[in-house]
Amino acid sequence: NNRTPLIAGNWKMHKTGAQAVEAASRIKTLVTSATGVEVMIAPTFTALYQVGQVLKGSPIALAGQNLHWESQGAFTGEISAQMLADAGCSQVIVGHSERRQFFGETDETVNMKIKAALSANLTPVLCIGESETEREAGNTFSVLDKQVRDGLNGFAFDGQADIVVAYEPVWAIGTGKTATREQAQEAHRFIRNLLDSLFGKPFASAVRILYGGSVKPDNVKALMEMPDVDGALVGGASLDPETFSKLVFFND
Ligand code: G3H
Repeated sequence: NNRTPLIAGNWKMHKTGAQAVEAASRIKTLVTSATGVEVMIAPTFTALYQVGQVLKGSPIALAGQNLHWESQGAFTGEISAQMLADAGCSQVIVGHSERRQFFGETDETVNMKIKAALSANLTPVLCIGESETEREAGNTFSVLDKQVRDGLNGFAFDGQADIVVAYEPVWAIGTGKTATREQAQEAHRFIRNLLDSLFGKPFASAVRILYGGSVKPDNVKALMEMPDVDGALVGGASLDPETFSKLVFFND
């Protein structure tokens, strides 16, 4: 395939502005020689603008961790796609499992956010994944099916739109339990086939599907070798620049 791997760091609720700037500068230096791979980092909202200034002129993409679906208005505490773009973002994480679990996000709100991101020319990184209970009950594929269908409801591929999907089994996030690479591949293949049936082959073969959940320097290569694993969405291991850069150089 000709999909460019994407290594994405989700800093979640970590780092002050100064710490984020320091980490971003260090990452920028460490990954300058990386070729054939895209890098993205998602700092907190309050650090976005500063980190964007640091990354200016570098190929590292800046992303928001969330957005609201309206462009502006009386929505206290929310941030719009336009505001993220204004702060320097080109991408945005949508529907992360922590947002679904702790902040009441549903496939319907995720869908509105996906549409808002696309209309502001931000690449949405749509996060999906089953919980441990759902996996044990044998419902992994039906959960993924619903999250993809409802999350991307109304989307039509026009040859342009860039969407990234991140498969993150909830039981593997921050737990140190990585899905085996066979489990990841099986889920990624299922997702790609579903995207093919919904939006056609040109979209399905171009879309990048990232794996997320306890990705570390010692397991990234094995995961990346799987044919439908196109990158990683990394939490814990993205916080330290040296560790994160090892993930970017997964092939070395
Ligand atoms: O967005 C990142 C994922 O939630 C993975 O987090 O690498 O700390 O398991 P983790």
